[in-house]
Amino acid sequence: MSLPVEPAQQASGPDRTLAPLGRRRCAVVSNTATGGYRIVTALDRDGPDPDPGQFYMLSAERSWGGDGRRPWLPRAFSVAEADRTPNGVRLGFLLEDVGPGTGALARLAEGDGLLITGPLGRPFSSPRRVNPDAAGAILVGGGIGLAPLAILRRSLAGQGIPQRTLLGFRDEAHAGGMELFRCSDVGLASEDGHVGHRGYVTDLLARMLEGDETGSAVVYGCGPPAMLEAVRLMCAERSVPCELALESPMACGFGACFGCAVPLADGGYMRLCVDGPVVRGDQIETAMPAGSGHR
Ligand SMILES: Cc1cc2nc3c(=O)[nH]c(=O)nc-3n(C[C@H](O)[C@H](O)[C@H](O)COP(=O)(O)OP(=O)(O)OC[C@H]3O[C@@H](n4cnc5c(N)ncnc54)[C@H](O)[C@@H]3O)c2cc1C
Ligand code: FES
Repeated sequence: MSLPVEPAQQASGPDRTLAPLGRRRCAVVSNTATGGYRIVTALDRDGPDPDPGQFYMLSAERSWGGDGRRPWLPRAFSVAEADRTPNGVRLGFLLEDVGPGTGALARLAEGDGLLITGPLGRPFSSPRRVNPDAAGAILVGGGIGLAPLAILRRSLAGQGIPQRTLLGFRDEAHAGGMELFRCSDVGLASEDGHVGHRGYVTDLLARMLEGDETGSAVVYGCGPPAMLEAVRLMCAERSVPCELALESPMACGFGACFGCAVPLADGGYMRLCVDGPVVRGDQIETAMPAGSGHR
């Protein structure tokens, strides 16, 4: 496998907030259920404010790798909210319990220790940075992938940048977290029809992209690989620029293990943890690289 030294985004991507060296202990502030997911918040006393699209490597201070049981390595999570307080930045993460790591994090209680490294990776770019003529943004999220779009939406709204948000869910058990958007004007879809349009969120996106006013929009997506690939192809067909937050298996999160390699459109690979997780749609060969994401 050949790895590129300088992927395209490295030269042209946005600046990013760099993680302080080492792992920090944060106290969990809250852990609440939201539909089939959980929102865990923790106070990061010493870290910087993250940018939308960045992620943290998380592990629980206790019940992590004990008695020779998984999980041994920290797990990657997009930051879903970040609020500066006099005592530090309160970070929020949206979790779906799919295995030993997310299970242990989902069981954290107020005051428990959460070990974090971050913020890591490259964030979303502003619409104008992607396209100087951009008038606004369309955010498209699927399932647990709505996490980085929630903080992106709040950031765009804070800058007065127009945006529209579309969210899709598989079924009621795999839905939640909409309160993170702190707004009601969200287009919804669900495969089981329990909320909004019965079908895929990409049906809503296709309709929106047919509208005249979307000619100068930038699409931002995060969700299951098949959804992201549909978004990527839809945008490519219509020459609409898009940025996608991808997942791949991450062991270290900071460029050391090469476990997160994703093929680039023009050959070679990027390490998603340092050159992503946010990538331009035209930068990658596919949004469904081997071993990516979970449904
Ligand atoms: C940049 C980034 C941001 C993420 N943000 C979030 C988030 O905000 N919320 C959230 O709930 N999860 C998020 N994830 C996914 C999360 O890190 C993984 O689901 C994690 O591996 C779960 O750990 P686990 O020990 O619970 O389950 P594991 O034992 O790691 O996996 C459980 C099951 O899910 C499958 N699976 C899960 N994740 C992956 C993956 N990345 N690649 C391949 N297969 C996978 C496995 O095949 C297995 O069947 C993110 C991942 C990345 C890379
Ligand atoms: S997760 Fe180790 S290099 Fe990307």
